[in-house]
Amino acid sequence: MRIDKFLCDCGIGTRKEVKALLKSGSISVNGKAVRDAALHIDEKRDLVCANGEVLIYQKYIYLMLNKPAGVVSATYDNHLPTVIDLVEDAYKHFEVFPVGRLDIDTTGLLLLTNDGQLAHKMISPKHRVAKTYSAHIAGTVTQADADIFAKGVTLDDGYVCMPGDLHIINSGTESDIELTIYEGKFHQVKRMFEAVGKKVLTLKRLSMGGICLDSALEEGKMRPLTEKEIQLLQKIQ
Ligand code: URA
Repeated sequence: MRIDKFLCDCGIGTRKEVKALLKSGSISVNGKAVRDAALHIDEKRDLVCANGEVLIYQKYIYLMLNKPAGVVSATYDNHLPTVIDLVEDAYKHFEVFPVGRLDIDTTGLLLLTNDGQLAHKMISPKHRVAKTYSAHIAGTVTQADADIFAKGVTLDDGYVCMPGDLHIINSGTESDIELTIYEGKFHQVKRMFEAVGKKVLTLKRLSMGGICLDSALEEGKMRPLTEKEIQLLQKIQ
């Protein structure tokens, strides 16, 4: 790979800044200053330093965001803030995008990555990736609802959902539930409850593909996944 691409991918600066750094002699490869932006290096073997500091090449990043309400799960929006606006400076150069979508009013776990292949695997219905939500519901959620969800509830457009696991935490005029589903149709959880005559008041994603929302992560904050968490994602068949 070209040294200038390596440096940009490491987040050292823009192409222009990288060019200037090279020119100034601040970049060394295996102990020798290099000024040629077109020089090819082996990112796995060569030791690249910027002002004496060793640079470790990282192509992909996997971030866990605790999504707040009021931001859209998109890379760009004309009017509304997006989850990309929340990306901290240290991760900006990775150019991440959200893995699937949460509604603007849904909070909780949203993964951000620049690994297109993994993102595709996570959202493809073929892989039946489990997603668990907690929700506060207007209405009395009953075992009969759980049985309907377990069989596959029919949505307003006639689509029959894959079986979902509904766990009732408490049930009254309003109810608290956890629901695990294995697909991600548009507004799926809200529409599943509408199909049994109930309304979702608040919705939060707790987990996806075995990755649980870190309870120490405040809304609007993100952290990189641990090696263990990344391995969980890579195991998805
Ligand atoms: N189901 C919904 O209805 N909304 C979400 O944001 C996620 C799942």
